[in-house]
Amino acid sequence: MTKTAFITGIAGQDGAYLARFLLGKGYNVHGLIRWDSAHEPYEGKSRINALRLDHKNLTLHLGDITDANAVTSLIKKIEPDEIYNLAALSQVHVSFQTPASTLDINTNGTLNILEAVRILGMEKSVRIYQASSSEMFGSTPPPQNEASPMMPCSPYGVAKLAAYHLARTYREAYGLFVCNGILFNHESPLRGEDFVTRKIARAVVEFEQGRTEPMKLGNLDAIRDWGFAGDFVEGMWLMLRHKVADDFVLSSGDAHSVRTFVERAFAYIGVEIEWEGEGVEEQGIDANTGRVMVDIDEALFRPLEVNHLLGDASKAAKTLGWAPETDFEALIGMMINEERQLPKDGSNTWLKAG
Ligand code: NAP
Ligand code: GDD
Repeated sequence: MTKTAFITGIAGQDGAYLARFLLGKGYNVHGLIRWDSAHEPYEGKSRINALRLDHKNLTLHLGDITDANAVTSLIKKIEPDEIYNLAALSQVHVSFQTPASTLDINTNGTLNILEAVRILGMEKSVRIYQASSSEMFGSTPPPQNEASPMMPCSPYGVAKLAAYHLARTYREAYGLFVCNGILFNHESPLRGEDFVTRKIARAVVEFEQGRTEPMKLGNLDAIRDWGFAGDFVEGMWLMLRHKVADDFVLSSGDAHSVRTFVERAFAYIGVEIEWEGEGVEEQGIDANTGRVMVDIDEALFRPLEVNHLLGDASKAAKTLGWAPETDFEALIGMMINEERQLPKDGSNTWLKAG
């Protein structure tokens, strides 16, 4: 029988890849999209366009995850078999500037989904994926797995941790089938432009095409475990196939600093970067020409930083048979190659990759 999935945050990076994945499996896919994302020229609409809006099994619903009544009536109408709760304010840096709305979207938004399923008496018919995050580990030393202490370092991490506990509580109290996917950083050509990997990939291609202004970055020494979003959405789906609801880390298991990402991205276009100076005076220089390619901007540092994330996804490997296919170098190559093909008019050819 055809399954029906409801994806909140369908206009985001993961929402687009997940929708494509589920449509490919024959699902009817319903997505929640904010009204301001549903119109050009916003990024969200561009991602959905890449999915081809006219797909007969894809239905978009205007709405907001913070609107409890609307969320409840939508779930009642859609009668989904699976809900993937991806909607979030996902920019960690921004969450320091908008802590209250971060909690509203990331925590209360999750509560609205859980409560809707409970109130509608759908506990036994719906399986829920909750987008939890490695940001919840915060200052806990690496490697991090499902049993590691959670010490978040941002309003985003705190809000995600509260949502994680709400999901666990509803699972235990009301028998909801809800899985927390504790996902480490995953990137793609569809990544939002403010995230560091996309920002670097874009700048590198701009340099290739004649850019002269140095790229500005913040903390070069933060270490992240970067994987490819296309691999990770399959893990979300696999969690909901498992016989019991549980929590799973998904990660590549390979961590690098932002500095290394910069070096490898420039190396991809044949530029060797040498670092000179210290602290905010540090610069990334083209070793051949002496040109400054990277400057440090103090404003891009966060009030508190997560220094080192390195995931241990052995539980997901053993229990779900999940393994990522795209390694660090392949991810960088994919992002740069897709960036090279973006037309100058702002439209895009996304989702060819992966
Ligand atoms: P993303 O690209 O920022 O997508 C998030 C989506 O949520 C956006 O489309 C956004 O809509 C939507 N949204 C925000 N506020 C909303 C609201 N009030 N009502 C309805 N929709 C709203 O993030 P992503 O990278 O795809 O991540 C998906 C989920 O996984 C997020 O929950 C994120 O926190 C979590 N996560 C991501 C990673 C990662 O590395 N990517 C790792 C761990 C966890 P607009 O387009 O209108 O802004
Ligand atoms: N965004 C950004 N911009 N980050 C920078 C910059 C810059 O110019 N310069 C250095 N960084 C550093 C940040 O300080 C951080 O340590 C690292 O690059 C990664 O930043 P982001 O790409 O913004 O991602 P994130 O790790 O903060 O959060 C992402 O991953 C989480 C999972 O660990 C987001 O996708 C979250 O939603 C997700 O939960």
